[in-house]
Amino acid sequence: MDKLVIRGGVPLHGTIRVGGAKNAALPCMAACLLTEDELLLDQVPDVRDLQTTRRLLETMGVETDAGSGRARHRMALKARNITNPEAAYDLVKTMRASTLVLGPLLARTGQARVSLPGGCAIGARPINLHLLGLEKLGARLRQEHGYVIAETDRLRGNHYVFDRITVTGTEDVLMAAVLAEGETVLENCALEPEVVDLAELLIKMGAKIEGAGTPTLRIQGVARLHGASHRIIPDRIEAGTFILAGLITGGQLTVTGLNPLHLRALLDRLQEAGADLRVGADAVETHPSPRLRGLDITTAEYPGFATDLQAQYMALMTRAEGTAVITETIFENRFMHALEMVRMGADIKIEGNRAIVRGPAPLTGAAVLASDLRASASLVLSGLAAEGETIIDRIYHIDRGYERIEDKLRAVGGVIRRIGNLIPQPASAAASL
Ligand code: EPZ
Repeated sequence: MDKLVIRGGVPLHGTIRVGGAKNAALPCMAACLLTEDELLLDQVPDVRDLQTTRRLLETMGVETDAGSGRARHRMALKARNITNPEAAYDLVKTMRASTLVLGPLLARTGQARVSLPGGCAIGARPINLHLLGLEKLGARLRQEHGYVIAETDRLRGNHYVFDRITVTGTEDVLMAAVLAEGETVLENCALEPEVVDLAELLIKMGAKIEGAGTPTLRIQGVARLHGASHRIIPDRIEAGTFILAGLITGGQLTVTGLNPLHLRALLDRLQEAGADLRVGADAVETHPSPRLRGLDITTAEYPGFATDLQAQYMALMTRAEGTAVITETIFENRFMHALEMVRMGADIKIEGNRAIVRGPAPLTGAAVLASDLRASASLVLSGLAAEGETIIDRIYHIDRGYERIEDKLRAVGGVIRRIGNLIPQPASAAASL
């Protein structure tokens, strides 16, 4: 089991380039199932969740080819023949977003057998809204032995209003609708940039989609889609994480290769809290911000404050002057990082879906446990700011969504190293354990 060892107190200084967005690459990889032609994806981050997705697609008969070394961010996928329209439990349990294959498998083959993902550390995370949407398009669904079995003779366009905004639910049903017969109107859709990126890829593949980035998607089904090449958008969550790393260490850190429009909520709040940030066309530079004060935030669907940056923001607020009330509205159990930060000396009280953070608290290094992807990132930030040594265990969580985070931080002065297996084990090894 890998661990990260961090010696805190060193201001980060230099430039970090962010990679492609994990949460855009996932649906874009699943989109390969919609055509027998080849998809060429660029700026695909080399992270465990995508290695798992690649392995999952290969079990279905998809031919994949990923580069290595400097070309490791390019991936070719070709679903010439889908020999096995199934997402097995042993893979889905390691990555719930595997349910993104449900819509495209149904659209392409008329059948799918996908393991129900089960809950995860941050919440129950049902997929009922995915399933209702697919039923609206004519899928017949039943559940057996922990699997969803879906069948259809032909998906037909319909009108569906999501009961609540769901990112992968929007993506799943959108990928079904593009090959359905006739027009589909989806309302109360997610607006996340990752959804827009998927829609742009699907349009390149010949899909007819209007309204990407708005609450209403209007899709005219087509008979088939063709191959395309596509560059994945920058990862706004990785970018936000490193911006917060620059601020929490009081360093001058340039985070580049990002789209600042995707980070407006975070950047606005940070500047309101007194952070000294210089925002450019594709970069954000942090400067020492001694007058940082506690500022309340409430997570919300895009363009609101991203729930995936809540834990990292909390780490910064432990170092700010005064009180910050952090309200989590998307997931029911997304404060586990707070308990680990308290062990490092933070002053955080949890009241339902609110965390009251009082600062500045002098953080001291400790042995802590990662519980989920973004909680792990917040503990790295706390470790970078703490006096002394922090050891973070179970960092396979962090490898799911951050590519070689220790290398990127060490390159800008972070005193951080990985112990245990020297490199993140490929998903295939993990899945077969
Ligand atoms: C996506 O998860 C992201 N994952 C998550 O990022 C992100 O936290 C989340 O969106 C919210 O922005 C990927 O894109 C792969 P939702 P998703 O469906 O789609 C409820 C990370 O760290 N809901 O938008 O699973 C659900 O329980 C990950 O990279 C239903 O009730 O999230 C939640 O409370 C973590 N029924 C809310 O909606 C459904 O059918 C939003 O979930 C679907 C969702």
